[in-house]
Parts: sequence; C-alpha cells; structure tokens
Amino acid sequence: MSEERLDKIIASSGLLTRSEVKTIIKKGLVKVNNITVKDAALKFDCEIDEIEVDGKPLRKGKYVYIMLNKPKGVVSATNDNKDLTVVDILPDDLKRKNLFPAGRLDKDTTGFCLITDDGNFAHDILTPAHHVSKTYIAELSDDIDFEKGRQAFKDGVVLADGTVLLSADLEKIENNDIPTYKVIINEGKYHQVKRMFASLGSTVVELKRIKIGELCLDEKLKDGEARLLTQEELSKITQITHNIV
Ligand code: URA
Repeated sequence: MSEERLDKIIASSGLLTRSEVKTIIKKGLVKVNNITVKDAALKFDCEIDEIEVDGKPLRKGKYVYIMLNKPKGVVSATNDNKDLTVVDILPDDLKRKNLFPAGRLDKDTTGFCLITDDGNFAHDILTPAHHVSKTYIAELSDDIDFEKGRQAFKDGVVLADGTVLLSADLEKIENNDIPTYKVIINEGKYHQVKRMFASLGSTVVELKRIKIGELCLDEKLKDGEARLLTQEELSKITQITHNIV
C-alpha cells in the first residue's frame, strides 16, 4: 500500500467524516507511531504505520466492506453503459479499486447492498451452501392468503420454471394500507422474492432489503448513503471464519 494523507486514511476507516477527522487531528488526538501529529496533510502508510485515534488503534484492513442504502434506479454492478451503478454512487472517501457488490439487487429494489473488494468473503456469503439469510420488506399489488403463503414459503416454493426453493419465512406487517410482508430467504436466485409472490398470484410493487445475515441496514443511512462496516458488524453477516483483515 502506498502513502496517503493522514486525514484520508482515518476518514477511509468510516468512523468519522473528513471534517471531524481534521478537527481531532488539530486537537492533538491522533498519534502516528506514538507521536502526536497535528498536520492532516502528512502522508503515511496505513499498512506499516501505527495510527491511533483518541487512544484507539485504527483498524488495518486489507479489504473494505461497505453498507450502501441502495436507491431505486441504480444497478448493482461495477459498471454499466446506461445506468449509474452502486459503485459509481459511493462517496470519494470510500471509493477504491476492485469494488463490487456482493450479491445483486434489482434496479428497482432498494436497501442494504454490501460492497466489497474481498472476493473470498463475497463467495462465502453468496454460496448457497452457507445459507446466509437475506431479509426483505415487500409491498404487494394484491393481498395474498397469508396462512397459505406462509406454508408455501416454508415448504419451499416451486417456481414457474420448476426451480425448487429452500424454505423461507413469511411474516405479515400489520397496519399498512398496502399489503406488506417481511420475507426471509436463504439463497439468492434471480428475481427470487418477486417470483415467490408471483407463485401466490400477487405482484411485488416495492422491495427493500433490510438485513443480511443478522446485520440490519443502518436506519440512519438515507437513500444512496454508504458507510464502512465495523469488524463487529461483519461477524454478524456470517459466522464463517477466515482471515478478513
Ligand atoms: N428478490 C427479487 O425479486 N429482487 C431483488 O432485488 C432481490 C430479491
């Protein structure tokens, strides 16, 4: 890794904004190799130099893991000829080479999109063998028979093309004018949630992913906003252990 400005290195950790970083550096709360550094423009190598922010060592990460609250109209790809991608809309502080979305959300689906540059991690959470769950909120055009739907999802829906899905959970969200359901699936087939409701004779009109594994989308992230995951949050997505830092 090459040298970068101290404020950029700290802001890239996702803990503080660039202006907050400048403030704490000025206040003398940042040490590099045990020496207080008050010049935000000085350059260091975050892989070699020991950076401490307010007494805590800065995480040294080879890879990044980003939570994006995906807005509508953006495609979950690394590049696209026509549309903006989830990588295009990341703030400059989080952008780096080789980022890609770990898993796909449709262009009109919103919510939790995980972006990383760690191919092994992405493979681990996407491989059907590991059954990392994904939780969605789906609004429907027409209501379904809840008990029938719950049982069908539990038994494993057979899609129109004969694909047999793994067991899924269905929960009704009450007190909404529009029929609204929480769905937890354990795999990620193409248009899966939409096709599951289609098998019950209904159409999904709004779809939002709110959780991956045990990690919820941060409600503070507005549409299109993104931040880095902490190490603790990462472990909520998967218990699979491999060296991620
Ligand atoms: N299921 C769908 O139908 N669409 C998505 O974007 C995600 C899951």
